[in-house]
Amino acid sequence: MDAVQPLAGMPLAYSVRNIRIEPNLVLAPMEGVTDLTFRRLIRKIGGAGLTVTEFIASEGLRRGADKMEEMARIDPDEHPVAIQIYGRNPTAMAEAAKIVQDLGADICDLNFGCPSKKVCAHSGGSALLKDPELAEQIVRAVRAAITIPLTVKMRSGFDSTQRNCPDIAWMCQEEGVEAITIHWRTRADLYSGTRAVDKIAETKARLRIPVIGNGDILDFESAKAMFADTGVDGVMIGRGAIKNPWVFQQVRAQMLGHELTEVTPEEKRRVLIDYYESCRAWFRTDRGALGRMKKISNYFTHGLPYSSELRTTILRSQTVEEAITAVNLYFDHLAEWQARGGSTRERLVPDATDAALAG
Ligand SMILES: Cc1cc2nc3c(=O)[nH]c(=O)nc-3n(C[C@H](O)[C@H](O)[C@H](O)COP(=O)(O)O)c2cc1C
Repeated sequence: MDAVQPLAGMPLAYSVRNIRIEPNLVLAPMEGVTDLTFRRLIRKIGGAGLTVTEFIASEGLRRGADKMEEMARIDPDEHPVAIQIYGRNPTAMAEAAKIVQDLGADICDLNFGCPSKKVCAHSGGSALLKDPELAEQIVRAVRAAITIPLTVKMRSGFDSTQRNCPDIAWMCQEEGVEAITIHWRTRADLYSGTRAVDKIAETKARLRIPVIGNGDILDFESAKAMFADTGVDGVMIGRGAIKNPWVFQQVRAQMLGHELTEVTPEEKRRVLIDYYESCRAWFRTDRGALGRMKKISNYFTHGLPYSSELRTTILRSQTVEEAITAVNLYFDHLAEWQARGGSTRERLVPDATDAALAG
């Protein structure tokens, strides 16, 4: 595969100090998604050059809260991996960063991007974009506490009147941060807004350290557009990886000039069932496992024929077994339906209700 020439103008790797991120495609941190089970799934499929944990409250981590320690767990062979922390107290952030380093993370990542009210109310996450002095104190304290590379992930600004990521990113670089990720949305955009990557381009043009572009990258075309429009060193993919965990592998192959290979329904079934099994093994209760399975299935099954029936059935499942049975039945029927030409409208999940079919 590597004998193929990469497409002109597209970088294939970047380095954070001595850590090579190759391919330059990063799994985004996602709370309630990118725990060990999901990161394992992504690594098994391959194609991501770096994985990042979901964000972890610095205060909880330094107090040794079980939940935070569990969230920060990484596999011994999961490298390179970044652990992301958030908070607003420089001392707590520094102590948490030291724990992150001791846990074996390659990179400590700071969250300056979370738009949630809970996080912003305590001046963490994207609220730090409005408080550059506090942001600087945090970066300085954390930088002094650890020797591993430090990176920061942020939104482009707090709202459309304050798209100040180039300034914040510059400050971070001057304080010793070694790479920056920018999601093009502002905090006020939440998850909507019209694509505007100009501030990512401006940041990239100003900084010496790698800049990674993020926001709505779903496939090779959108990754290519991010590289072309901003000149970034790498791209980060979040929701696109829940819908399609093969996205890294596919984008990488296309960056090397290969054709896109479609994932077969059988492979989708295998990966989904495998994921369900690892949730069952990882979560302490069946309820916890089922909750996570429902969340991931909701994204993962989009785009499959007549999958709203499947989603409804999974959402109504009371046990892990029920959800596994629904997935297996769906894929069995899908295979039969496709073998018949796949043109007629049919129920692919036999026990779905008419209401579900209408949806
Ligand atoms: C369910 C969910 C949880 C998220 N949790 C985090 C988080 O813990 N830390 C963080 O920096 N960003 C978090 N984000 C933002 C993503 O990392 C990413 O910046 C955003 O989704 C845009 O990228 P995308 O369009 O590829 O999804 C989260 C996003 C989603 C959808």
